[in-house]
Amino acid sequence: MLLQTTPNTLIDLSRKTDGSQDRAAFANDVADGLSQNPKQLSSRYFYDATGSRLFQQIMALPEYYLTRAEYSLMQQHRSDMVSTFAAGGFFHLVDLGAGDAMKTKLLLSELVKQEKPFNYVPVDISGSAMQELSKDLRQTHPDLLIQTVVAEYITGLQWLQQHLPERKVVLFLGSNIGNFERDEGLEFIRQIRRHLKPGDLFLLGVDLAKDPATILAAYNDASGVTAAFNLNLLERINRELGGNFDLDAFKHFALYDPQLGVMKSFLVSQREQEVYLEATQKRYTFAAWEAIHTESSHKYTLQQATEMGRSAGFEFVTSYLDEEGGFADMLFKAI
Ligand code: TRP
Repeated sequence: MLLQTTPNTLIDLSRKTDGSQDRAAFANDVADGLSQNPKQLSSRYFYDATGSRLFQQIMALPEYYLTRAEYSLMQQHRSDMVSTFAAGGFFHLVDLGAGDAMKTKLLLSELVKQEKPFNYVPVDISGSAMQELSKDLRQTHPDLLIQTVVAEYITGLQWLQQHLPERKVVLFLGSNIGNFERDEGLEFIRQIRRHLKPGDLFLLGVDLAKDPATILAAYNDASGVTAAFNLNLLERINRELGGNFDLDAFKHFALYDPQLGVMKSFLVSQREQEVYLEATQKRYTFAAWEAIHTESSHKYTLQQATEMGRSAGFEFVTSYLDEEGGFADMLFKAI
């Protein structure tokens, strides 16, 4: 097969910007969000250098069970997962939002161990993360076939549909689906389905509904790392957009609604105040105790997640759970 002789490649489909466009888009989004009622800021801006470092710390917190739960369930079920993935012969393992691929590496080494033929296709918007990952994998698995794609999810999927027509197994791990509103999450999975063929597989990481106290603690840790992570968004606005947010005048607040299954994070203004942004040359006023919504993390029951996959055009195959039953990787097959 031609693919087996193609050297590993990195495809960059990200919009090329000189940085000034990035800043303009950031300024626009912030101005929009702070002008709305209720106010909001997009969680996509959490991850500057400081934010990414703080998120690494969140993942290591005793309260933040999500990453550990998914890692341990993959460790436990990897042999099964890999046999199921590879049952139809050669496939592209598409990893949406691969990042450092900490969890996917468990599958990669298992695939290598079982000598299954596959091509690893990490897709991520972060060019630097993808460069690091391919360098890292070249060292640890020199024989691995890799095609790295730097792109937004849907752009990446379109490219894959056109250029890699063979069978696919798509991973969307880490409960990333939870950060979409429910209707948007379903629409996103429908989009994934549209870029697949019948028989292709889809593995979806889902943080399951559980004791509200456990969920709340994961987003409101005792040591205050999550608070620092949330507040860093204001610090980033100050630094990159010339804002004058007084960080001491805002506090992190988190709440879980067990009926809607949604964890919400806010930054609450502790007094009446005005904030000025040089980038927009505008003032934004806050009433005392007015809140900015910064992130929602939706939790699903197994039944809700199964239903979501089905309404997106998949058949439910199986779910892999961690020992506590709090996190699931759900396997679907395109029909
Ligand atoms: N999006 C991740 C999640 O929902 C990251 C996250 C963890 C997060 N803690 C947070 C986002 C607190 C905002 C606020 O799990």
